[in-house]
Amino acid sequence: MTFADLWRELEPLGRDPQTGGYRRYSWTEADAQCRAWFTVQAQRRGLTVEPDHNGNLWAWWGPPGAGAIATGSHLDSVPDGGGFDGALGVVSALAAVDLLREKDFYPERSVVLAVFTEEEGARFGVPCLGSRLMTGVMDPDRARALSDNKGVTLATAMAAAGFDPARIGPDEQRLSGLAAFVELHVEQGRALAPLDAPVGIARSIWPHDRWRLEFAGRPDHAGTTRLADRHDPMLPYAGTVLAARQAAAAHGSLATFGKVIAVPGGTNGISSSVTAWLDARAPDEATLEATIATIRSAAEKFSTEHNVTLTASQESHTPLVRFDPALSNRLATTLAGSEPLPVLPTGAGHDAGFLAARIPAAMLFVRNPTGVSHSPAERADLADCEAGVRALAAVLEDLAGRP
Ligand code: GLV
Ligand code: MN
Ligand code: MN
Repeated sequence: MTFADLWRELEPLGRDPQTGGYRRYSWTEADAQCRAWFTVQAQRRGLTVEPDHNGNLWAWWGPPGAGAIATGSHLDSVPDGGGFDGALGVVSALAAVDLLREKDFYPERSVVLAVFTEEEGARFGVPCLGSRLMTGVMDPDRARALSDNKGVTLATAMAAAGFDPARIGPDEQRLSGLAAFVELHVEQGRALAPLDAPVGIARSIWPHDRWRLEFAGRPDHAGTTRLADRHDPMLPYAGTVLAARQAAAAHGSLATFGKVIAVPGGTNGISSSVTAWLDARAPDEATLEATIATIRSAAEKFSTEHNVTLTASQESHTPLVRFDPALSNRLATTLAGSEPLPVLPTGAGHDAGFLAARIPAAMLFVRNPTGVSHSPAERADLADCEAGVRALAAVLEDLAGRP
């Protein structure tokens, strides 16, 4: 099947007709449809599909065993996400297998296609949950207790989907069987757009923190409570949003509040609480720490000023990732044309980052003409996606073509 044929099949799954964005949250019906689609596609190609204990899917081309070359990405999305983030890597992996088969290539080392679960952390709050659990970075008890906006825990959601949550956790046996992981992903920025390069190679990923800030105030009447008498949690929240922007500008980092819940949410009432999630990223760990410290102290100061109680909790930390130089250089050599491929850092998180801590890992980025991502407007041109498939196939041919 061509890339375009595969894309057309996956495209409608989990797409909201109103916004055109994707709502492929892990362990939901949309997620099940995506998993089923991948499973059928892999099986049609004669690959052996096995879910692991953490809910990630693995499709083997060749016998499962030591020295395998893994590729793939994720199929879950952020709220109203774009169609390419994650899905491009999975579809390209299937298309690359087809391309290699057309050339009568058979891997000396097994190739395994991976689909990681809850990469975005859109439902349970912790990004790259499947690869975090697999690599032992996430405590399984903490993971089981994570809950979504409706209070459904990961354990309950997994059990409802037919998985045993008691079995989640480190998967040393699987990791020890992988010689390398190469993730292809849509670029989430505009570094490649001005260059004559449909594909680039990742150098590093910025460290990343997520914090939950709960401002607890006192609910009261919007029409009768004197300003001086209020304990309004919206005010320290608002001050903190602006302080985060200033801190990011001052430190050369990024800080974002993209999710906020005001309770009880009445137009004519002062909120009892405002809970907001901070996403902060920086080029290095010290800058990230300094950014967060500045934002937290602003949140404390504003809360005190407005008689509001603040509870700040770190929901996740993702350390700085430097991809394996030897593997990245090998990709660069395999893919070099008249010009070397651009090598880029990124602020976006990826499962390849967690695998990079344990096995040689590398990433390929496919050009995004606008740079927009985590949005229904996310795009990649078909010709660039096809160039990505050819690049991934060449990399797999090189890595898996020799014992
Ligand atoms: C994942 O896309 C992230 O960087 O949040
Ligand atoms: Mn994403
Ligand atoms: Mn992604």
